[in-house]
Amino acid sequence: MAGEPIEMFRRQWTTYRLAVDHDLMEHRGLTAALAAAIDDWLASRDPAAPAPHLVDLGCGDLGLLPPLLRRLPLASFTALDLNAAVLPVAEDALGPVPYPCAFVEGDLLGWAEAEGPAVDVVVAGPPRRRSPGGTHTGLSGH
Ligand SMILES: C[S@@+](CC[C@H](N)C(=O)[O-])C[C@H]1O[C@@H](n2cnc3c(N)ncnc32)[C@H](O)[C@@H]1O
Repeated sequence: MAGEPIEMFRRQWTTYRLAVDHDLMEHRGLTAALAAAIDDWLASRDPAAPAPHLVDLGCGDLGLLPPLLRRLPLASFTALDLNAAVLPVAEDALGPVPYPCAFVEGDLLGWAEAEGPAVDVVVAGPPRRRSPGGTHTGLSGH
């Protein structure tokens, strides 16, 4: 039936948002760890370094990231998700910011393999599992 997949998606996303809002999957702690990791990385950089480009892979509706994204001194923000329906939700959740943003439909593996502009910070997650010694956040200095 026409419209069924998007309705199913909306119901599932509503359920996921309830889990985020009630912190059932540790989003608050993970987002705080992400913010601390990015702040430490920014503080360690040469003050003359250019503003970083940040990408969120599997952005969904951005979860709890909008307050962090609004205060970061970014050169650009790219939000990528396999599901096009979440992209306008993510854009609304972020609201106006003083740097260019792109909300892109795509597979994160395709994104990783494609030639594209240099990226400084890659956010993906939050991951539900960590390998021993693993971190919540990927930071790279390309
Ligand atoms: C559990 S949600 C997490 C959303 C958000 N990052 C957060 O922290 O709340 C996972 C998201 O990853 C997206 N996703 C799953 N597989 C993907 C892939 N291969 N490439 C891009 N996005 C993907 C889904 O569409 C979904 O929006």
